[in-house]
This record gives sequence, structure tokens and C-alpha cells, in this order.
Amino acid sequence: MTTTSPREFAEQAEPLTWPKDCWYGVGVATAFVSGRLHVIRFLGDELVGYRDAQGNVVLSDNRCAHRGCRFSAGWVADDQLTCPYHGWRYDKAGACRHIPALRPGESIPAGAQIRVYKTQEKYGIVWAWIPEHEPEPTYEIEYIPELDGMHHHPRADIRYLFKGHFSRTIENGIDPVHAPFLHGKSVGQVGPDADLTYPDFEVVKGERITKTRIPVKVQRLSGLVRYLLKGDADTTYKEFRFIYPNVSLPLNRFGRFEFASVLVHLPYSETETLVEATNWRNFLRATPLLTRWFDHETAKTGLQILVEDNSVVKDQQPRIVRYRGSREVLVKSDGMVLGFRKVMRRFLEPDASPGSADRG
Ligand code: FES
Ligand SMILES: [Fe+2]
Repeated sequence: MTTTSPREFAEQAEPLTWPKDCWYGVGVATAFVSGRLHVIRFLGDELVGYRDAQGNVVLSDNRCAHRGCRFSAGWVADDQLTCPYHGWRYDKAGACRHIPALRPGESIPAGAQIRVYKTQEKYGIVWAWIPEHEPEPTYEIEYIPELDGMHHHPRADIRYLFKGHFSRTIENGIDPVHAPFLHGKSVGQVGPDADLTYPDFEVVKGERITKTRIPVKVQRLSGLVRYLLKGDADTTYKEFRFIYPNVSLPLNRFGRFEFASVLVHLPYSETETLVEATNWRNFLRATPLLTRWFDHETAKTGLQILVEDNSVVKDQQPRIVRYRGSREVLVKSDGMVLGFRKVMRRFLEPDASPGSADRG
């Protein structure tokens, strides 16, 4: 019998490469507040964002071109980002417009420029184009038709710091079969005779997405969902979607009621990923007290779920998913994970031979 020790698993980790030339979700829109700088730890470094006079998000590297100071302790005045060290000011395009200590006859050096990223706001999320070879966006942010009839409830926005790489937090976020086991406390427990085989479990794979739909199998529901879900009812199902490179979308439907979350997984390092989520639903909008209570319960349950997820994700080995040739033993119900890995291979290893593309 061949066995694989944890150490061998650790040795097969992917190098720390980040997807580029794509739209990243970089945070919930409510985190960007006028008059305040918002720092994002991202891809091993930092970004800084603010809202301009029109309310649009301006996002740049959090590093001054002068002598490398962080802008975090700085401020924004007249839509210009001001460095706290020597007061250099940068406009929305990243060009330095003012250097207080510049002498008469001296002009602003051509290199006095910081990198600014193209942003869009959609689904309660701020998205940023992170370039490598393509300075301009080459595709549209994924359309999510299911959210059309739902409303975002910003009071239920949450954030949680995972102690794991974003490839692991995303796989966790799109894995449809772990909930009955890991989320027994927050969502509900699986009955001893529940059928967890999901025979019609179909995984849809697109160029930048993977999605699936499964029936709800939890039988003893807990917390908020016990008011909403009837385990195993025909009109009750869950959908999971991955949107390249860092967004996951769980959706629950129970009869005519639907609720969904859009999660951005902010990659920082092998061991840290900040997950931020917006919550959406098509009911309970107009009754203020009940709406507030439901938002609060949604946020509380959401955070509890993430804490439970982190309890396993933080110790997974290898820390970074091996997108090709993994030694993990996968079965059919890992279809979403396989779909995710395939998308990642497509963009991170575009020159790899097609013959090996379907291996886990
Ligand atoms: S380091 Fe930013 S102004 Fe000097
Ligand atoms: Fe989970």
C-alpha cells in the first residue's frame, strides 16, 4: 500500500503565483467610504482606495513614488491622494500634481507617478482590473442573472480573515457537499439515513466560471435557516458558482424565496485570505424591524459558517492547491473542485499540454 505523508503533500505545493489580467473582486462596496482611505492587503502587498467627489472608487498601490511611504496615514483633499511623509499629492490618474518642497524652477519629475487600477462597482462589490500584459480590461465582469430579482442588504455585509491560501478558501466556498458535516451547528445536521450521493449533480464549466445545483440534504436545521428551509423539498436547492479568479457565490432557493451571497476572497499570502461578503435576497425588504433583524441574523450565521470553514481550511496541505497533478483522491462529488482547478490551469498554465488538462 502506498501512503502519502503530510510532509509529501506539503512538498507538492504550487509556487505562489497570482492570476493577472483579470477582474478581481477587491472588497464590499460599503468598505469604501467618502473621506476615508481604505487599505486592502492584496497579492502580498497593499492597495489603497477612496471615493472621489462623484462617489467613484479610486484604487492605487499603497506606496508613494517619492520614498516608498504608505499612504495609509495620509488623506484625500480635492480628489488628490496626499502622502503623510512629505505631502506629495497624486491625482485620480496617479500623476503627482504637487510637491510642497519643490524649489522655484524645479518641475515635478516624470516618474512621480503611482499605479492606479481601473475599477467598477457591481453586485455590492468593487472590482479592479489587475494587469500584467493587458493594461485595459479584455472582458466584461461576469453577469449574475440570479441576482436580478434580489436586493443587496449592506447591513448584512461581513468580513472574515481565513488562515489559508485563497485557492483553499475558494474551493471551500464552492464545495457543495461539506455543509451537512462541517456546518452542523450553524446550518443543521444531516440525518443518519440521508442520501448524499446527489445523482443529478451536474457541474457546468465555462471559460471563467464553474457552477452547480444540488438539493438541500440537511434534515435537522438550525439557526436562521430553520425558519426558511425545508430539508429535501423539491423546490429547495442550493447553487454554487465560482467566478475567476476570486469570487464565489452560494445561492439558496426555497420555493419563491431566494437568498445569495457574493464572496470575494482577497488573496494575500499562503496563510492569509480576507473573505468579504455581500448578502442578497428577494424578500423581507419593506418591514424595517424585521428586515433589520433578518440582516443581523444573516450576518451572524454567515460569520459562524466562515469560522467553521476556517477550522478546516487553516490546516489543509498543501497550503496552495495543486491545480494540476494533485495527489488528493477526488470523487465525482468533487466536480466543482475539479472545475475550479481546470479554470485556474487555463489561465495560470496556458501553455501546458491539453492532454494533461483533465487530471485532478
Ligand atoms: S515618501 Fe511620500 S511624500 Fe515623501
Ligand atoms: Fe462551508
